Parts: sequence; structure tokens; C-alpha cells
Amino acid sequence: MRAYYYDNLPGDQRLPHDCVPSKPVSKETLDSINVKYWTIPVEGYETKIDAIAKERNYKNRDQINVSKAAMGDIYEEKLKGFFAEHMHEDEEIRYILEGNGFFDVRETPSDAWIRLAVEPGDLLVVPAGIYHRFTLGENNFIRALRLFQDEPKWVPHNRSETTDINPSRVNYLKTIGVGA
Ligand SMILES: [Fe+2]
Repeated sequence: MRAYYYDNLPGDQRLPHDCVPSKPVSKETLDSINVKYWTIPVEGYETKIDAIAKERNYKNRDQINVSKAAMGDIYEEKLKGFFAEHMHEDEEIRYILEGNGFFDVRETPSDAWIRLAVEPGDLLVVPAGIYHRFTLGENNFIRALRLFQDEPKWVPHNRSETTDINPSRVNYLKTIGVGA
């Protein structure tokens, strides 16, 4: 998984939006905002994913297929929703099986966007309370496993003053040592 600062230039969100020259983001920086990832080859992934799921207590999983063919009429609307800056009250865990896409996560306190270019074999944990957004890449397709503990609270809370004081957001800031 490649991680780099988003260029903030206008244009198609599905393009890489890499700066020239690129500004890569280290694993240590991702650690500091509590974003975690592993690379697990797709061939024979089940055993390794099972082990991580057990260790982190992810008891359930399903598959999500984001493409026009799979989603039909709600495709455009869903994509817009994914790319609106939001947070969740639960971790968002994805293991990419096919296709590609970009998770943009907000670095705090800089408020810069860090772009995470995910591809098959990437297992990504977007922590509860972090502001983020998602877009497909140019091939308009991704298939991923979603892992979760119990009933997932995947309701997106769009960034706002109200969301800024959501307990999950406040707790996230405490976890990374920012704010109260
Ligand atoms: Fe999300």
C-alpha cells in the first residue's frame, strides 16, 4: 500500500493526486494517527486473515463489491457518499481482494489529507473517529472483505461541529494524543 500526501488539486478524484515530486508518508506517521495496515498475498489469504481476525477479535466478515454492475442505480449516489468526509463509531477494516481504490485519511493536527492507495493484498484498519473518505480508482471497481466484531456501526457521520464532539471522535483524538 502506498501512502502519500494528497495534492489538493481539482480534478477527477479517481486519479492518484500524487504531488510532483511525491510526498510519501511513512508507516511511523500512519502509526501516529493510528492507521494500521498489513500486506497479505491474496493467494491463500484465508489462514493469515483468520489469524489476524482472531487476534483482533473480528468475529464476522462479509464481502463488498463496489462497481456499477454490482450496485446498479445507487452506484453514483453511493460513490458521492463515500467521498464525503466522514467518520464512524467503529473501526473500518478492509482487505482488498480485487480492483483498487483510495482511502484519504485526515492527519491531525495538520488537517492534511493522506492518500492510501489500496490494492489486492492490502489489509487496512481505519480507526474509529478518524475523518476519512473513499474513492474507487480509474478502473471503477473494488472487491473487499469487511471484517467486524459484532454489529458494525458503519453509519457515516459527516464532518461537522456536532461530529467534532462525538464521543468516538473525542476518544480518537485522545488516543493519538491530540486535544483534551
Ligand atoms: Fe468510511
